[in-house]
Amino acid sequence: MSPATPAAMRLAVVGKGGAGKSVISATLARLLARRGHRVLALDSDPLPGLSLSLGAGVPDDAPLNAAAERDEDGRWRLVKGIGPARAVQRFATDAPDGVRLLQIGKTGRQGLAANRASHNAFYQVIHRLDQVRSLDDWVILGDLPAGPRQTAFDWAPYARRFLLVVEPTWQSMLTARRIIRISRDMRDDVAFSLVVNKATAASDAERVEDFLGVGLLAIVPADDDVRDAERAGVSILDRAPDGPAVHAIETLATALDEHA
Ligand SMILES: Nc1ncnc2c1ncn2[C@@H]1O[C@H](COP(=O)(O)OP(=O)(O)O)[C@@H](O)[C@H]1O
Ligand SMILES: [Mg+2]
Repeated sequence: MSPATPAAMRLAVVGKGGAGKSVISATLARLLARRGHRVLALDSDPLPGLSLSLGAGVPDDAPLNAAAERDEDGRWRLVKGIGPARAVQRFATDAPDGVRLLQIGKTGRQGLAANRASHNAFYQVIHRLDQVRSLDDWVILGDLPAGPRQTAFDWAPYARRFLLVVEPTWQSMLTARRIIRISRDMRDDVAFSLVVNKATAASDAERVEDFLGVGLLAIVPADDDVRDAERAGVSILDRAPDGPAVHAIETLATALDEHA
C-alpha cells in the first residue's frame, strides 16, 4: 500500500433510497479494513443504516453532540480546541474489523432538534477532512442518504469518487442519472463508478451501464441472506460470509484497490 491513500479511495456511496447503499458501504468498509486499509466510515444519514449494516451499535446519544456549540450570535461552531482531526479521534466509534465510524446522529424520539449540535459538528468536520494530515493514508467512505437536500456535492466534499449503487429498475436508474447530472454541474473533480445491486438477470448490469454511461465496477446479485441479516440485525459479513453478495462486494474491494 502506498503511504498516502489515492484520491480514488475517497468515496461516497450514492443512489436512490433502498438501492442498497448502506449494506454495500458497510460491507465494503469492513472488507477494505481486512485488506489492511485504515478506514473511516462516515454515516450522514439520520436514519440508522450504516451502523446496523456494519454490525456496530447505535448510540442513543450522538457522540458528536459534544463537539459543537453556539457562538454569541447563535451560530454553530466546533467547540474551542476541537478541530476536525480531534473530532474524528475523539468522537468516531469502533466498528468491527477496526473500521472507525463517525455518525451524524440519529433522529431519535425527540426528533432532529436533539442532535442539532451533532449535525452541525458533522457538517463542519466533513468539510475540513481534507486538512487532516493524519487521515492522508486512510480510506474515507461515506454513506449518503437519498434525497435532494443531501445530494452528494454538499455532504461529501471529501469524495473524489462517487459509487453509484443502482438497482436494475427505471426508478433507480433515473435517480442515478439525476445524481450524476447534478453532481457534474457542481463539481468537476469527481469520478463516477457503478455498482449494480440486486441483479437477477445476466443482462441487468449491461442495461444499467448503457443507460448511465458510467464504468461498471461490480455486480451484486439479489441475495436473500442480505434481508435475513437485516432482520437479525447483524452484518451480512457475519451472517453469510461465503454468500454471493459478500463475494461480489469482495470483487468491488479488489477493483477499487486496483483502480487506486
Ligand atoms: N443484494 C441484495 N440482495 C437482497 N436484498 C438487498 C440487497 N442489497 C440490499 N438489500 C435490501 O434492500 C434494502 C435496502 O438496503 P439499504 O442498504 O438499507 O439501502 P439504502 O441505504 O440505499 O437505503 C434492505 O432491506 C436490504 O436488506
Ligand atoms: Mg441507507
